[in-house]
Amino acid sequence: MKRILLMACIFIIAVAPFQRVWADDVKAGAVTFKRYCASCHGRTGEGNGPAASSLKRTPADLTILSKNNKGGFPKEHVIKTIDGRLMPRAHGDAVMPIWGQWFAVQALADGVLQEDLAGIEDEVNTRLLNLVTYLKTLQK
Ligand code: HEC
Repeated sequence: MKRILLMACIFIIAVAPFQRVWADDVKAGAVTFKRYCASCHGRTGEGNGPAASSLKRTPADLTILSKNNKGGFPKEHVIKTIDGRLMPRAHGDAVMPIWGQWFAVQALADGVLQEDLAGIEDEVNTRLLNLVTYLKTLQK
């Protein structure tokens, strides 16, 4: 019995760092948004953050993503835009940072091993999903 308890403790300690971010977690998405997006897109997501006026291009109004897509939330488009790693930067001077890369760096900082590519991808995807879930709640 003691042995089982010990194993359970070790298991919980081992997986704990990865439980900090959950997919479809609006609160986690809101934290990420305030930290990484609000400077440009504004606290309310309307595109009027403090850094907006110094940018070459106006940050998108993220509260009308559904409205601009005939009422349906464009989940795939939003995920790809935020991730950025798969998007060809055809126009050279994209103003929007590539967040997929940054979230991968964050995964390493959270203790995911560099050779654990699936683990890194998992954490990146979780952050992206949380963000998208939060962005959905901002739609007018
Ligand atoms: C440095 C400023 C900046 C930051 C920080 C930033 N963005 Fe952006 N974002 C932009 C700009 C500018 C655009 C307009 C697209 C373009 O011209 O490149 C944009 C476009 C977008 C779009 C596309 C909207 C559409 O209608 O297609 C989404 C979605 C988006 N941003 C989400 C985010 C999220 C989520 C974050 C935080 C992880 C974030 N952005 C952080 C500047 C920023």
